[in-house]
Amino acid sequence: MAIIIEDSVFTLQTKNSTYQMKADDKGILLHTYYGKRTDATDYSYLVSMADRGFSGNIYEAREDRTYSLDFLPQEFPVCGSGDYRVNCLHADLGEGVNDCLMFFDSYRTYHGKYALEGLPAMFSTEEEAVDTLEIVLKDNQEAFYLHLLYGVFEEHDIITRAAVIENRTDREIRLHKVLSGCLDMDHDGMDLIHFYGKHAGERQMERVSLFHGITELRSTRGTSSHQHNPFVILADQKASEDMGECFGFSLLYSGGFHMQAEVDQFHQTRLVMGIDDCDFTWSLLPGETFVAPELAMGYSGEGLAKLSHCYHDSFHGHLIRSFWKEKRRPILVNNWEATYFDFNADKLLQIAREAADLELDMLVLDDGWFGKRDNDDAGLGDWFVNEKKLGGTIQELADKVNGMGLMFGLWFEPEMISEDSDLYRQHPDWAMVVPGRNPIRGRAQLVLDMGREEVLSYIKERLFAILDAANIQYIKWDMNRSVAAAYSALLPRERQGEQRHRYVLGLYHVLEALLERYPNLLLEGCSGGGGRFDAGMLYYAPQIWCSDNTDAVERLHIQYGTSFGYPMSSVAAHVSVCPNHQNGRVTPFKTRGVCAMQGAFGYELDLSKLSEEEKAEAKEQVRTFKKHYKLFQFGDYYRLTSPLLNRDFTAWEYVDKTGKEAILSVVYTDLHGNPAANTVKFRGLCPQVIYQMWRDKEPAGEYTGAALMNGGVLLPVPVENYDSCQIYIRQKE
Ligand code: DGJ
Repeated sequence: MAIIIEDSVFTLQTKNSTYQMKADDKGILLHTYYGKRTDATDYSYLVSMADRGFSGNIYEAREDRTYSLDFLPQEFPVCGSGDYRVNCLHADLGEGVNDCLMFFDSYRTYHGKYALEGLPAMFSTEEEAVDTLEIVLKDNQEAFYLHLLYGVFEEHDIITRAAVIENRTDREIRLHKVLSGCLDMDHDGMDLIHFYGKHAGERQMERVSLFHGITELRSTRGTSSHQHNPFVILADQKASEDMGECFGFSLLYSGGFHMQAEVDQFHQTRLVMGIDDCDFTWSLLPGETFVAPELAMGYSGEGLAKLSHCYHDSFHGHLIRSFWKEKRRPILVNNWEATYFDFNADKLLQIAREAADLELDMLVLDDGWFGKRDNDDAGLGDWFVNEKKLGGTIQELADKVNGMGLMFGLWFEPEMISEDSDLYRQHPDWAMVVPGRNPIRGRAQLVLDMGREEVLSYIKERLFAILDAANIQYIKWDMNRSVAAAYSALLPRERQGEQRHRYVLGLYHVLEALLERYPNLLLEGCSGGGGRFDAGMLYYAPQIWCSDNTDAVERLHIQYGTSFGYPMSSVAAHVSVCPNHQNGRVTPFKTRGVCAMQGAFGYELDLSKLSEEEKAEAKEQVRTFKKHYKLFQFGDYYRLTSPLLNRDFTAWEYVDKTGKEAILSVVYTDLHGNPAANTVKFRGLCPQVIYQMWRDKEPAGEYTGAALMNGGVLLPVPVENYDSCQIYIRQKE
């Protein structure tokens, strides 16, 4: 077992990391170690005790003025304990103040991974078993319990944690904040790497040095958001792609989140993360529990690439459940940028015919096929096929597409309602609008109350009816606005603070029901592009539309940022038309393909308008993706250059797990007269192996792995703006 327990010291061991806690003699659960794998020594000897001014002493410390929670490293710091740093829990146990004090009560361990009711969670598999540790804390006065759950993914250097609050008192407890976890470190000097953004510009990597005080990131939008991503890294200031310590924190939650990183008066660093507590309240009645979402913590002592591999592999193996996960992802063509709302069956079939000719796998019909939906002002909620527009039933259309040898996929935006819809006319109270106040619109639409049973039943009934009517093998699940008024007509005033979380639970409920009924369905997540690109969503959707920005060059940044915490097979990316619809840039067709092959590959343009030359290039791209899909989907991914630091080109690489073959892609982002030579070094190869190389399919010599990793490869000189190149190497037979 990966869990060692001795004298109230709990040591969790993964292949390369150790995590340790200790219930001290007062019963406080201290955090004593997280870092490079070590032995199970009780590391609390490193905690230095002293009488520190203005740092209160809990009553249980008696006369000992050196014992203060204000500086002790803790596993789950709570409000009201005399610890003035950021914390994980505000609970009003009945007196109107948020004071509680949690002491060790009991623990248990078991083989297998805990699950979380109604929420996504990583799981154990037959091939790779996982162990669970549950530590129970209890308030020193009330029957108020906290269950801290730990899942040890030994092979992947991932430790998951979650918190379950239990009310065993006979009165209501009001929760104002329940985060999922905390990491206390005894030093400062850490960088925070985070991923900020906007619609059409998600997950821009930024690295900042933490300072004395609080750095915080949050989404109050009801979704994980375009603006900040619920994945962050604490990295040693010297850490780079291939060296140094780094710690990842990925929240498996698709609603608003809150992350705070604080460097305190004694130069210690604390990071807390969980559900957004802005406007959050939860009434916990006697006998009830509240489950905080899972936080997946990862450790690498060998830099950022290794940390990314921990997340890529563990999410692939232990989070993504899809029927599709080991299969080649279908290469699809989506009609959105090809037609927007302006299509009919003939147009769609024309695109499908071209797709079949190019040997694509699937046609996806995007927005506009239902209700009165010829623009984005109307129709959401009316999930009834517009047979007039489609020139027949959905089944007839799907059959025709299937008849061309293609799969058929469909877009939905089930969480939304247009005021101009039959659904709204029948059930205006299903929309989240504060009574007596004007609604806040977003893209001219309102948000359904996903906390309400009848809303969920309606959504399921409509989805199931359409999926039962035709052979639909893929759904793009979209969500095109932020939640503003999180009001439910069903909740009393004092429980309105529960609505945002109830919304997410409702969403997960429908997604689960959908996959239970159609286990082979390929679900693609989407929220105006990548506004809900989080690990929670991956539990349901193995791929997520990464951004509405399809420009190959801006995608270099977006996909670079996304690659830190999410497997590349989850990053949906398409070749679109030029000038690009989002920024007007013109890039070569070839380069658009190279960029889109960085993730789950597809097209999003009117294929019937391609020139013969572009068609030939597209055929080549499809062939390349099909031939090398195992590398693209399951290979180890390396960021070879950063688009933030290298203005001339961006390069990345996939290596298969045995090191026998690799693909290196490069996109040039600037041109120079009299250009300097550019080289780039492969990573992850076997040094002694001799590799044969092909540059854009042309034979380009033989080299040892050592030469390619240490010397590198000379890149061809770009011949046009945004030129690109793919270099494939394979072990010589
Ligand atoms: C936003 C998505 O990101 C787009 O790809 C497209 O599906 C539109 N919504 C449709 O309204």
